[in-house]
Amino acid sequence: MADSVIEEIKNRLDIVDVVREYVKLEKAGANYRALCPFHSEKKPSFFVSPTRQIWHCFGACNEGGDIFKFIMKIEGVEFGDALRILAQKAGVELKKEDPRLKTERQRLYSILEIACCFFEVQLQKSSAGKEAKNYLKKRGVREETIKKWRLGYAPDTWQGLSKFLISKGYKREEIKKAGLLLESEKTGNYYDRFRRRIIFPISNLSSQIIGFGGRILKETLRPDNQEEAKYINSPSTLLYDKSKTIFGLDKAGRAIREADACILVEGYMDAIMMSQEGIENVVATSGTSLTPYQLRILKRYTNNLLTAFDMDLAGNSATKRGIDLAQSLGFNIKIVIMPEGKDPADLALENPELLKALIRDAKTIHDFYFQDVLSKFDKNTLEGKKEISNILLPVIKRIPNKVEQGIWIKDLSELIEVREEDIREELEKISLAEDSYLTLAKEEMVVPAKNEKKTRKDILQEHMAVLAIKHPVFLNFLKTEDFSYLSPKFSEFFSLYKQKGDFDTSSFPEEKKSFFDYLFLKAEIEQVNKKEAEEDFKNCLREIKKIELRQKINEMTQEIKKAENQNDFERAKELVQKVQQHSELLHKIESA
Ligand code: CTP
Ligand code: MN
Repeated sequence: MADSVIEEIKNRLDIVDVVREYVKLEKAGANYRALCPFHSEKKPSFFVSPTRQIWHCFGACNEGGDIFKFIMKIEGVEFGDALRILAQKAGVELKKEDPRLKTERQRLYSILEIACCFFEVQLQKSSAGKEAKNYLKKRGVREETIKKWRLGYAPDTWQGLSKFLISKGYKREEIKKAGLLLESEKTGNYYDRFRRRIIFPISNLSSQIIGFGGRILKETLRPDNQEEAKYINSPSTLLYDKSKTIFGLDKAGRAIREADACILVEGYMDAIMMSQEGIENVVATSGTSLTPYQLRILKRYTNNLLTAFDMDLAGNSATKRGIDLAQSLGFNIKIVIMPEGKDPADLALENPELLKALIRDAKTIHDFYFQDVLSKFDKNTLEGKKEISNILLPVIKRIPNKVEQGIWIKDLSELIEVREEDIREELEKISLAEDSYLTLAKEEMVVPAKNEKKTRKDILQEHMAVLAIKHPVFLNFLKTEDFSYLSPKFSEFFSLYKQKGDFDTSSFPEEKKSFFDYLFLKAEIEQVNKKEAEEDFKNCLREIKKIELRQKINEMTQEIKKAENQNDFERAKELVQKVQQHSELLHKIESA
């Protein structure tokens, strides 16, 4: 890979713009700050430096790098894919690669993209597609909406798509891996997974197709219809994992940030029809409960979720578990109450103004719960009071914010006329053991730091570097003989800094550059106490020397033993002398 392409991309793109597409950034001095998208945290420790074009998380993950590293991590892709994504953003053309050199993933992306085009053409051009087109028209999907969402039609043939892909040079095995082809166990024959269905392409955050949903071509299905599912979806593949995907987020991301809220709906059609009516901050969960992974993605965009689907909060449905999880992760949740028997897609078509009004009037989860229990139980009977508290207590227990929790307790106390103390006592008794799901999910949210732990010496050296960058005069305390105590990379940093001050890192090899950039960024964002800084610097240096001297003494003591065992008394004597020198030095430093 020519470095010049990478350079070209870096020159054209600003890391702040790239990161901002995924993470809510706020200005912090010369830099930008955000909650780290890679681990769960309350205080932002993720920084982006526009001057250095790097990012770094100074929190638990302690990871950082350039835009390429960022895309690789946030999209979970290999370097090649990150390159493609960024090249596209930058408008840099990559040389056409030999298809044989493509990685398996890349070939799957191509297969899905070709399949998507195939389905689009079928819908638009084929005579069989007419029926599908009419169906969409009837449901109110406009032409530009079909184009925007790349809706398509899978024809009623056994091998239409498979044969087409094979003619493009893809192997049957690959098409199967892309989730588009099925094999009959008996005959070994193959056939297309999607047949005679409206196709909803599913994309990743960079709008690359990763899978499909296919809807049967019938207005409604009899509930007892067993043979044909209304929807079939791509299976899990190298590219598609239902539990990690949020339908429509690539299109809705910007609007979600602007509105600082995300509307969650259940179905593909709901998302599509709402966006057609100008409600763009909407994504679909595709009929499953929200997973920790999905929530972590949404966290990058907003803290405010609005749900617009049927929810029975008394039950323990998958949907409810997702909402509970979101709540305990600190999302604010509001509930859009839909008219009985209508889903957002219906309403967007029949009465978009009403839908918008319902969204505006979304209920807080608090109001929703209290209304819901009131409508279901009689708060004046003992039985009713018990039912109500059975439903609300676990919910209250889970509220992470104590103030908010207090409000719920007070309201419940008033509702069922029970003293607050008694409610609190009951709350104590609830163990959320039933919530192993939540605990697990929360653990999943925390990405363990994969970097090896820093040594104490490294921490001290880093701190010295930060102090020196902020107060270059401190470098005078660093004498020539002190350099031997430092690790090579810090020694190099200090000597460069001593010579040149704030030096330009761009000409250094990658590893050095990123280390120096990291130190400079750390210095920019770290607050240090000016009064104590000098003493601090000297102390660090002293500590480093002590660590080094102690270690040397240890090593030499071992060697003395070895020399004595080998009857090499000459060497032993030499070493003893050295140990004495070192001990004296150590002593001097310790008593200073
Ligand atoms: N779904 C699915 N498999 C099914 C049924 C549903 O994957 N057998 C997912 C689809 O993503 C679907 C969503 O769950 O969009 C919601 O299901 P449903 O409400 O039944 O579908 P609608 O989106 O309302 O579809 P339509 O309006 O076309 O009937
Ligand atoms: Mn529907």
